[in-house]
Amino acid sequence: MGIHLYQQHHHYAERKERNVENGHTPAFSRTEMTELVVPGDSNQLGNILGGRLMHWIDLAAAITAARHAGHVSVTASMDSLEFLHPVKVGQVVRLIAQVNWVGRTSMEIGVDVYREDLPANDVKKTSTAYLTFVALNDDGEPIPVPRLILETEDEIARFHQAEQRRKLRLAHRHKL
Ligand SMILES: CC(C)(COP(=O)(O)OP(=O)(O)OC[C@H]1O[C@@H](n2cnc3c(N)ncnc32)[C@H](O)[C@@H]1OP(=O)(O)O)[C@@H](O)C(=O)NCCC(=O)NCCS
Repeated sequence: MGIHLYQQHHHYAERKERNVENGHTPAFSRTEMTELVVPGDSNQLGNILGGRLMHWIDLAAAITAARHAGHVSVTASMDSLEFLHPVKVGQVVRLIAQVNWVGRTSMEIGVDVYREDLPANDVKKTSTAYLTFVALNDDGEPIPVPRLILETEDEIARFHQAEQRRKLRLAHRHKL
């Protein structure tokens, strides 16, 4: 019981420490998802279907967005996506999603996708996806998200690159 209480307190203190001025680091919400490709995921050639991979990308990003926002978040957009290497039945797909940028109610989530061939111990990056999620309240209206606390050079670089992509996205949306 004593240990349990101590752990609870420890977790609370850790969360509080990370939640500086109502913000979170990218590490707070980073999500790693691992899937084994089975025949139901593939076409006649045994290659994974693009749509199945997009579904996993969307899920990993949705979990990350909801963790950061503390609210359910919806996909507003997904940038263009390239599949650099085929992924076959029996191989493993590893997805790593993290928040790159936050605005007022929206967040850019970057998802890196890796293909692992376990017997050959061969790992290749197959895609990088960028998605914009918007946090919604219980009435389905956009609500402000916690700020993003950047701790590393890589996180700062990702933030600036995401800002550029956002400009292009909003210009594209305006055209639509
Ligand atoms: C996403 C959605 C909530 C935005 O609603 P909206 O009335 O346009 O809200 P706003 O104009 O206030 O935009 C909210 C934020 O989203 C951003 N945004 C909206 N559409 C965007 C897009 N296509 N790309 C990038 N950012 C976008 C805005 O810039 C704004 O960001 P900020 O608050 O960080 O500055 C609304 O379009 C929606 O519900 N879309 C459907 C989402 C959905 O159901 N997805 C599941 C798959 S269909």
